[in-house]
Amino acid sequence: MWAGRVLHAALSGASRGRRAQSALAQLRGILKEELESIRRAGTWKSERVITSSQGPHIHVDGAPGGIINFCANNYLGLSSHPEVIQAGLQTLKEFGAGLSSVRFICGTQSIHKDLEAKIARFHQREDAILYPSCFDANTGLFEALLTSEDAVLSDELNHASIIDGIRLCKAHKYRYRHLDMADLEAKLQEAQKHRLRLVATDGAFSMDGDIAPLQEICRLASQYGALVFVDESHATGFLGPTGRGTDELLGVMDQVTIINSTLGKALGGASGGYTTGPGALVSLLRQRARPYLFSNSLPPASVGCASKALDLLMESNAIVQSMAAKTLRSPTKDRTHAPCIGSMEY
Ligand SMILES: Cc1ncc(COP(=O)(O)O)c(C=O)c1O
Repeated sequence: MWAGRVLHAALSGASRGRRAQSALAQLRGILKEELESIRRAGTWKSERVITSSQGPHIHVDGAPGGIINFCANNYLGLSSHPEVIQAGLQTLKEFGAGLSSVRFICGTQSIHKDLEAKIARFHQREDAILYPSCFDANTGLFEALLTSEDAVLSDELNHASIIDGIRLCKAHKYRYRHLDMADLEAKLQEAQKHRLRLVATDGAFSMDGDIAPLQEICRLASQYGALVFVDESHATGFLGPTGRGTDELLGVMDQVTIINSTLGKALGGASGGYTTGPGALVSLLRQRARPYLFSNSLPPASVGCASKALDLLMESNAIVQSMAAKTLRSPTKDRTHAPCIGSMEY
């Protein structure tokens, strides 16, 4: 009896093993076909391996000599600014490598609170909340804020993280044609039946570098009782007279309700993202936003770098002005990104 059970267990163990192996073989076949289809479509993304720090001049594995780098989002060159690096080192020493925790369990340090207050000050908003990335800020916002009674109206070329964030929420979804204000107006009219309406757009679009017509968007939003959300990842720190972003550039800082942006581009380039806007919204996000509640706190070194980058921008307008002057000097009509990427050297 006992021996029979052992034999049965061994045999069924062997057949489980065979099934697992054939499932793995099946998976390998599917993956091979999928990868080949990406290559065939010409959309395979290969990665260059940089062997130096990020900057306008870099070293790349397999390429002898230096390379001039036009493709980082290091718009102000702050990722290699000595004061930013020093601040990161200092914060690492004082506050450790990381929190091993999410914010609400035991992952909030004084530096996180200070940086949130600084971000809110920088954008002239009531409050701010940090996330591990702007991707997380975008996937956290819509689901926490909007219900099935509400509507979100999104530019068709919005960043993937906005698209994913909107997919996660239960609100009614309207997609308007890129920068097309007549289409936005038609969708706003259709959306009048919902409780809240939120227009969502990139400030500066990440692929083509075009700027959202925020004055017109805000005018339509006010006419049709909608809120405006702008992702400022490609604008924070350098667009507008003092680098506050697209809303400053277009004179609508008081009309954009919610801003999401990244610490991983102009603001030191380490990592991290945030939402800034009404205090009550930030409080709600601390209670409900899943990437905030269920992912580790931003590491202290990243907090230190971003905090110093903001200090540099708030103490003086020299960096922003120097960047603007270089942009005007640049002869390039390059449309892949804003001009003069990573052109500041320290
Ligand atoms: C418009 C926009 N939003 C969000 C993100 C995501 O930012 P992060 O790298 O902080 O996740 C990016 C990054 O490329 C972006 O271009």
